[in-house]
Amino acid sequence: MNLKKYLLPVAIMALTACSQTDDTERRIDRLISQMTLAEKIGQMNQLTYGDEEWLAEQIRNGVSGSILNIPDAATVNRLQKVAVEESRLGIPLIVSRDVIHGFHTIFPIPLGQAASFDPAIVEQGARVAAIEASACGIRWTFSPMLDISRDPRWGRIAESFGEDPYLTSQLGVAMVEGYQGDDTSDPSTMAACAKHFIGYGAAEGGRDYNGTTITERLMHNVYMPPFKACVDAGALTIMTSFNENDGVPSTGNRHLLRDILRQQWGFDGMVVSDWNSTGEMIAHGFAADLKEAAAQAVNAGVDMDMMSHAFISQLEELIDEGKVDMETVDNAVRNILRLKFRLGLFENPYVDETYAAEIQYAPEHLAAAKRAAEESAILLKNDGTLPLKGVRTILVTGPMADAQHDQLGTWCFDGEPEHTVTPLAALRKLYGDKVRIIYEPGLGYSRDNDRSKLGRVTALARTADAVVVFAGEEAILSGEAHSLSNLDLQGAQSELLRAAKAAGKPVVAVIMAGRPLTIGGDLDACNAMLYSFHPGTMGGEALAELLFGDAVPSGKCPVTFLKEVGQAPYYYNRNNTGRPASGNEMLIDQIPLRAGQTSLGCSSYYLDTGFGPLFPFGYGLSYTTFEYGDVKLDSNEYTPDQTIKVTFTLSNTGKYDAVEVAQLYIRDVAGSIARPIRELKRFERIALKAGESRTCTFELPVSELAFMGLDKRVKVEPGDFKLWVCGDSVSGEAVDFKVI
Ligand code: GLC
Repeated sequence: MNLKKYLLPVAIMALTACSQTDDTERRIDRLISQMTLAEKIGQMNQLTYGDEEWLAEQIRNGVSGSILNIPDAATVNRLQKVAVEESRLGIPLIVSRDVIHGFHTIFPIPLGQAASFDPAIVEQGARVAAIEASACGIRWTFSPMLDISRDPRWGRIAESFGEDPYLTSQLGVAMVEGYQGDDTSDPSTMAACAKHFIGYGAAEGGRDYNGTTITERLMHNVYMPPFKACVDAGALTIMTSFNENDGVPSTGNRHLLRDILRQQWGFDGMVVSDWNSTGEMIAHGFAADLKEAAAQAVNAGVDMDMMSHAFISQLEELIDEGKVDMETVDNAVRNILRLKFRLGLFENPYVDETYAAEIQYAPEHLAAAKRAAEESAILLKNDGTLPLKGVRTILVTGPMADAQHDQLGTWCFDGEPEHTVTPLAALRKLYGDKVRIIYEPGLGYSRDNDRSKLGRVTALARTADAVVVFAGEEAILSGEAHSLSNLDLQGAQSELLRAAKAAGKPVVAVIMAGRPLTIGGDLDACNAMLYSFHPGTMGGEALAELLFGDAVPSGKCPVTFLKEVGQAPYYYNRNNTGRPASGNEMLIDQIPLRAGQTSLGCSSYYLDTGFGPLFPFGYGLSYTTFEYGDVKLDSNEYTPDQTIKVTFTLSNTGKYDAVEVAQLYIRDVAGSIARPIRELKRFERIALKAGESRTCTFELPVSELAFMGLDKRVKVEPGDFKLWVCGDSVSGEAVDFKVI
């Protein structure tokens, strides 16, 4: 083979990339040499959109280099024109916004996208968001949110990819690649922002903004991997989190931001604080005043201060007093300018306002959103009622059946409710010619306690062949600062389900929510339950087709569903304890009177709810059935440099062509520290026709079994391991292997 033919282009590309980098660094150096201290600090100061005249004055005077939440393309162009043509050095603005799960075309909330276990659909959603948002001048999004979420009381579980580090890593990388593409100087891209660095999802009590106490090992083994994966994938920015961990706020955590993020991981992007998280170090009791907070944040490694005005008001004095070095400021400005150069903002600062309007809700965008909603739905229960077949009349009821605003979910600044296709609208449009659809909401909204229409629901249900109840949460009940201490269906929704059931006809519950609710008590009132984490603009069409079998559910739980909120925090990849529950423990209604002190299970469980969850991580049904078999490894022992090759047979043993998310878990049986009873290491969506069987393969490098152990070094440890290939985190037969 003529190697030169292949090596030459690669070498040219590498040299070109290096020369571009060198050229950018030279341009940064030149610009910094021209900047005054005030102009440098101005680049470090991010402001939110508000009084446009005042903002324009700040930009003109070099007081701010980044604005978030500018509402439209024309306004971006106006303010960008001030920056480029009226400020002294003409440094363009970088405009940011929380485009978390779509811009105008809204995709399922990230927790819903996680249920698809489909990086391709997540990347496509991010790509659509970038195309629509960048057209309006937004070139930086505060996404992906990578917080591992083990507590559904925490409202921001909605924005996360759930409880597993591997799933979160894979989907976070997919989002980064969707937003940033192959070349971030392409005006249709957006800089990603891996947030919230770090540990924010472990807020004590699931109460937002609360402190966390994550040990160094747990940080490295659970919370950091998704951020490391996104940094390695080239995420251009990182956002520090609100929480303090073990007393140290992330925004002032030098070890985190300089030793780990910069030194160990080699991150050369830009670090932004969260909204006022610099100033909030005073409330944390970590800074005496704004001046000390500014010094802590910039010395710790924060480059841009979001909305605390700490840098703009304090840095000049701190430099005069020698508490902050000029080099620290120059490095921060360097990181900010590098971001702007990488986005091509100096070459393309303006947007085409006509195109910005045309590209929103493009048909292919809506089609992608529908596919994402379809793949995100999880079939939790089905006695055969679904898919609906042979029905002539259905009753559609529930507060989420036609909820154009709430169906979009949390963090939805730009999605317009009038574009939302609700289940009611979709059922009428797609099936109204074949099925008579009666509609009675029964309740006005998820918190509604007005039971006056429940009798009517029962009466109408008697006239139908089946009832579909759309229940769940209004969008405002999840997301930032929206923690809940009770996760049952709000208002009279459970009674609504029972009112439907009272008619004696089959009842299908479709739940749209921002988190896994404790719906165990509602399951006996329905024959089937489809769970759809706020599915976005096209959720109605996706759900309608799933209900009638024109699509088959394939979603899997990205987070554990609890029997009771009192079980939180609960997650599948837990340690075993010294007294793991057997599942046969005596429950509270079985305990004899005057029982002796040690007469009960003496194991790790709850007297009232036992131990197990309602539905485990990775669980999800289909209209067909799947069987796993012949799980084989290519060896029974491996050295750390080898790769485990796993083959298995997957069979579709039912009547529907369908997709199964095959999952590979491992367990390190005995480590230098206690290790989780299972850890997800691979997954794949596998499509099989009814009756089809296929031999499938996973490959897992042994190096991916590395973890931070007793000596606080990250490495693979020799010993016994177990491996499962199955359809959820509790099933399957283990296969043993050794690492030597
Ligand atoms: C919020 C959130 C963060 C968001 C930022 C800007 O408080 O914590 O996720 O990106 O402020 O809106």
